[in-house]
Amino acid sequence: MQNNIFSGLFVGQNFVTLKEVDSTNNFLKDLVSNSKPLMEGTVIMAENQFAGRGQQQNGWFTEPGKNLTFSLLLKPHFLDIADQFDLVRVISLGVFDALEPLAGKKLKIKWPNDIYYDDHKLGGILIENLIQAGQIRNSIIGIGINVNQERFPEILPDAISLRQILHQDYDLKTLIAEICRNIEAWYLNLKAAKILNVRNTYLSRLYWLNEKRSFKSQKGIFKGIIKNVKDNGLLIVEDNNQQQVEFSLKQIEFQK
Ligand code: BTN
Repeated sequence: MQNNIFSGLFVGQNFVTLKEVDSTNNFLKDLVSNSKPLMEGTVIMAENQFAGRGQQQNGWFTEPGKNLTFSLLLKPHFLDIADQFDLVRVISLGVFDALEPLAGKKLKIKWPNDIYYDDHKLGGILIENLIQAGQIRNSIIGIGINVNQERFPEILPDAISLRQILHQDYDLKTLIAEICRNIEAWYLNLKAAKILNVRNTYLSRLYWLNEKRSFKSQKGIFKGIIKNVKDNGLLIVEDNNQQQVEFSLKQIEFQK
């Protein structure tokens, strides 16, 4: 479908909206595997997802019609598999840059790719890479942003919406267009090999960077300081013995 809300070169130029779907990531994945080649930058947005998926096998629950739930197709053939975390970085930065003018200084990226306002989760990202012959053929990038939801159920004590921050509704189409514009800009930066800019900017936006905080690992609760993120995406936390320890997502929890 042609449209005029997206100002970029390719992200959003093929834009499909669905009334209801299980998950936009599932829908886009099926489309990629069942149809003729799909244009890079295709965006599938749903008014309602009845089986939205989050990271680590969690669900993604949102009130129908109130929030952004969409998936975007990228084909980062230029990216080494070893550098796939750079895709996490550019997507997080794109979402961050679209929201920061609205939400302000309290907006952060919680490693690896949650969008946080203060100590609350404003949005999440689920990237599923389809790898073939040692190359990322297709990347399905699912993005959920809490926009106009007024309250959240008790099972989501950490969630916050843009409406709760701004005290007014925000237009979903305007926001998705801004997110897509910013993702495209960061993605093109990465493609142009501006990798250091991508990595340094991502690091500078991190929640709890250089702050002494509580974490939980296999060894129990400990105080530590986030110092860096390795090229491959592992989090580097300095513990009480000044040791720099590396963690994958499953190995560490932030203790708020
Ligand atoms: C997370 O923080 O756990 C990631 C949440 C990702 C949610 C989005 S909503 C659109 C897309 N479709 C899904 O089923 N999940 C992602």
